Amino acid sequence: MNKNVVILISGRGSNMQAIVNAHIAGADIKAVISNRPDAAGLAWANERGITTAVVNHRDFDSREAFDAQLQHTIDAYQPDLVVLAGFMRILTADFCLHYQNRLLNIHPSLLPSFKGLHTHQAAIDAGCKLAGCSVHFVTPELDHGPIISQGAVPILPDDTADSLAERILSVEHSLYPQAVADFVNNRLQIKDGIVTNQQPASASSKLLAF
Ligand code: GRF
Repeated sequence: MNKNVVILISGRGSNMQAIVNAHIAGADIKAVISNRPDAAGLAWANERGITTAVVNHRDFDSREAFDAQLQHTIDAYQPDLVVLAGFMRILTADFCLHYQNRLLNIHPSLLPSFKGLHTHQAAIDAGCKLAGCSVHFVTPELDHGPIISQGAVPILPDDTADSLAERILSVEHSLYPQAVADFVNNRLQIKDGIVTNQQPASASSKLLAF
């Protein structure tokens, strides 16, 4: 049976586009929801006939009130999986726990290094030779939670935060659809905070040479 998937965005939604364009067997994309009415990804989804909704965080006095409405909106689609794809709001513990083990995020660093914002510059400033991205289950702790897959790229001598971000983003676009496919096809198991992928053939980590 197909799994219902709801995708949350805040901006351009290129990861959302990669997931939609992957036409993942077993995944029904039920809705794309944004906290920003002007998110470019909303128009892209609308043009493709995907249901969209906006829950504007500016309409709420507290994080708790926003998250409650967001949860209500998401749950109308009876999601088996909720995918954060460039969703730029910190979520409350209650929200994270409500979707425990069915809420994914992609973060542009090799976790557990460089949580939070400005990850690309932070990796350059630290003199790292590799950088990358991580898909993980979301827990109440920011950019924490069981890691599903990671992709790495080299950091080149004249990289800027923008050039590195661009190189990592292209890895994100293959890593995230694969993780969603692995989830909806029940290939992921979590035990003691460690994720195993039951199908080794589907590469859960990759090192991409530039
Ligand atoms: C990506 O770099 C993702 O890793 C981070 O936010 C960015 C979103 O980009 N969480 P997009 O909206 O998917 O294009």
